[in-house]
Amino acid sequence: MKDSNFLKEHNARHLWHPMAHPADSLANPPDIIVGGEGVEIIDVNGHRMVDAVGGLWNVNLGYSCQPVKDAIVQQLDRLPYYSIFRGTTNDNVIELAEMLRDFFAPDGLERAFYTSGGSDSVEVALRLARQYHKIRGEAGRVKYLSLKKGYHGTHTLGASVNGNANFRTAYEPLLPGCYHIPAPYAYRNPFGETDPVRLAQFCLAALEDEIRFQGAETIAAMIMEPILGAGGVIPPHESFMPGVREICSRHGILLVADEVITAFGRTGSWSGSRHWGVQPDLMCTAKAITNGYFPFGAVMIAGGVAEVFETDTSGRGAIGSGYTYSGHPVGAAAAIACLKETDRLQIKDNAAERGAQLWDGLRALKERYDVIGDVRGGHGLMCALELVGDRDSKVPVGKDVVGKVHRTTYEAGVMIRVSGNNIILSPPLVVSEEHVSTILSGLDAGFAAVS
Ligand SMILES: Cc1ncc(COP(=O)(O)O)c(C=O)c1O
Repeated sequence: MKDSNFLKEHNARHLWHPMAHPADSLANPPDIIVGGEGVEIIDVNGHRMVDAVGGLWNVNLGYSCQPVKDAIVQQLDRLPYYSIFRGTTNDNVIELAEMLRDFFAPDGLERAFYTSGGSDSVEVALRLARQYHKIRGEAGRVKYLSLKKGYHGTHTLGASVNGNANFRTAYEPLLPGCYHIPAPYAYRNPFGETDPVRLAQFCLAALEDEIRFQGAETIAAMIMEPILGAGGVIPPHESFMPGVREICSRHGILLVADEVITAFGRTGSWSGSRHWGVQPDLMCTAKAITNGYFPFGAVMIAGGVAEVFETDTSGRGAIGSGYTYSGHPVGAAAAIACLKETDRLQIKDNAAERGAQLWDGLRALKERYDVIGDVRGGHGLMCALELVGDRDSKVPVGKDVVGKVHRTTYEAGVMIRVSGNNIILSPPLVVSEEHVSTILSGLDAGFAAVS
């Protein structure tokens, strides 16, 4: 590793950071993280912090997961790469597909299509949805529905169904035929409705209305996160996703669950769909599938959808999607080891228990700090705090306030993530009671600094 002077001097000089303004990165260089151990990260100055971000919602098993590291190293020695495009495969993708089928059997998902990450998984799922209808002779079903505030990655299909202008405006025009439904976001919504049950009904009515307006026979799929993540952790009422499922089924529209964050235990259930008792037609996974140690993803496909492709005799079922790194043997080895550890530790249970502790602690902070306008969570280890200058008008706080909370919390030994006026918390699922207390006391220090 280069010495710290070199790193600081060259920080952000000759690279552009994702999701950042290049000028801002030059003016305010990012924190340089050089180590990770357990659920802690260490910066270039040797400062240790509990990582309340969990990498980027992906390091569910922490930074010291030896079985995943060993699997990667051993696979690099044995077969560092081979393609699984038509005609060749590798041992790991076969084994992993069996494991994924077992893992997602309660979700009704029976086939895997491998990708290199979350945006790829969204892209593939949306493409497969159109293709499914074409095989069945409904070529007119090409449109997509999604939720405002939803995040589905940054490929152009994903950005088109994305529900946040920050990821859209600079790249418009995006794909035509994508329509957005109000999110079940009780703190702010166009209906002025704060009751989650009634709000879910309004949003479902808006979905029905849009389908009627577009014509169901023109719509391929509805994509949604079971709990909206990057949009500010928005858990809908429990009636919402089952309601979406029912409407989609009634209109022949495929339901794509974007579980890039929620699959593998984060919500306290093994998948977000299962959390709500829903079986999707397609599910996007990535991130925690390898504990974040290798870029990898999988689109999971329901039995009924798979059957349409597998029994096709017209040739329309041939898949024209795939990436050089689809089914990468090292990624698949990492995923096999990660799934075994995930199962051995039954980490969904710790996510639920520690999630409840975090949720309680955050609500207690809201009692003490007026700057916290809304606390969202209550479903495993994904929570958000929305910061406002005034609780009545709900005016979002400026960057300076969130920045100060972030910096003070960092100095107090806790890494948090800031997104607009939200603080997003998604720690590794292996955090202990003590780690959660540290996260809460770090935040306490952060809020004290702006109060
Ligand atoms: C729900 C969801 N979908 C898709 C993506 C995109 O995944 P990636 O960044 O791996 O491309 C993300 C990333 O955070 C996500 O949260």
